[in-house]
Amino acid sequence: MEQLMRDFFLFLSKNKTLTKLAKRYGLRFGASRFVAGETIEQAVEVIQQLNRKGLAVTIDYLGEFVDNEQEANEMANHSIEAIRAIGENKLNSQLSLKMTSMGLDISDELVMKNMRRILDEAKAHGVFVTIDMEDYSRCQKTIDIFKQLKKEYDNVGTVLQAYLYRTEKDIEDLNAYHPNLRLVKGAYKESQEVAFPDKKDVDENFKKIIKMHLLNGNYTAVATHDDEIIEYTKQLVKEYNIPNDQFEFQMLYGIRPERQEQLVREGYTMRVYVPYGTDWYGYFMRRLAERPANVAFVLKGIFKK
Ligand code: FDA
Repeated sequence: MEQLMRDFFLFLSKNKTLTKLAKRYGLRFGASRFVAGETIEQAVEVIQQLNRKGLAVTIDYLGEFVDNEQEANEMANHSIEAIRAIGENKLNSQLSLKMTSMGLDISDELVMKNMRRILDEAKAHGVFVTIDMEDYSRCQKTIDIFKQLKKEYDNVGTVLQAYLYRTEKDIEDLNAYHPNLRLVKGAYKESQEVAFPDKKDVDENFKKIIKMHLLNGNYTAVATHDDEIIEYTKQLVKEYNIPNDQFEFQMLYGIRPERQEQLVREGYTMRVYVPYGTDWYGYFMRRLAERPANVAFVLKGIFKK
């Protein structure tokens, strides 16, 4: 049943008509629990509140699967606006973005042009930029773009997903670049040709790649809400004397906020991924797919009104 629901929401997450409708009608159905608002001003307020609690942030202007050049350029402009807001308001925040919002499905030239604009601005403001990882069909391209950009900029990192069979090898291959990587379980619907179908195997692979990347001496962001993985990381860094400034934990805005603050109190760097903007639909559907309790929360919200 859980798997069916997961598949259903992941299927809905790709629906273009619903994506357009959602943009037109604004944040609905409890999406504001996971999305900081539709404007940069609203996002800045949320980030200031999180920073006051000692939480670091990575801000994301929501958008994905863009299919025309003008929209891709506008998406890049929004990211630049977010970087300027970080600088002007002295926020403790990085930036995250998706390659399909920069024009990945249109042309490599367009993506590189937009990414260089963003990374130049980010460099000027001392802001680090993480390239999110999307579905498997875009994984190799995303890694290739990351490698090229990493040769030109030191303020860029990317994400690897524990559910993919290929990730262990990607960790090895990328080691030559000494990358700052965010490691996650993986949020898209993938076939068992390319991804572990069982959660148990994903979790084991997650632990394996965390260990590999940390022991390679690279900066590691462990992005999860899973206590077992968090405890595993804490034990690992203790055992190998890995300093607190070589890793951090990351969680999504609106998920386990008390646990986020607890990790800060324990002395760890805890970064919250704060999405904002009008294109909230696909992101929201993936959050619903992850956890049936999130669906119950949404249903309660709908029927209360
Ligand atoms: P999982 O969903 O398996 O949950 C494990 C356990 O965590 C649960 O059993 C429960 O104990 C606890 N838990 C989870 N949610 C809870 C809640 N609401 N309340 C209480 N307990 C809860 N994916 C991707 O493909 N590309 C990307 O670029 C990114 N980027 C990214 C950034 C950040 C900062 C995060 C945190 C995540 C991503 N992801 C991602 C998403 C990621 O791949 C994954 O889908 C989600 O993080 C959910 O997986 P978890 O590791 O949290 O474990």
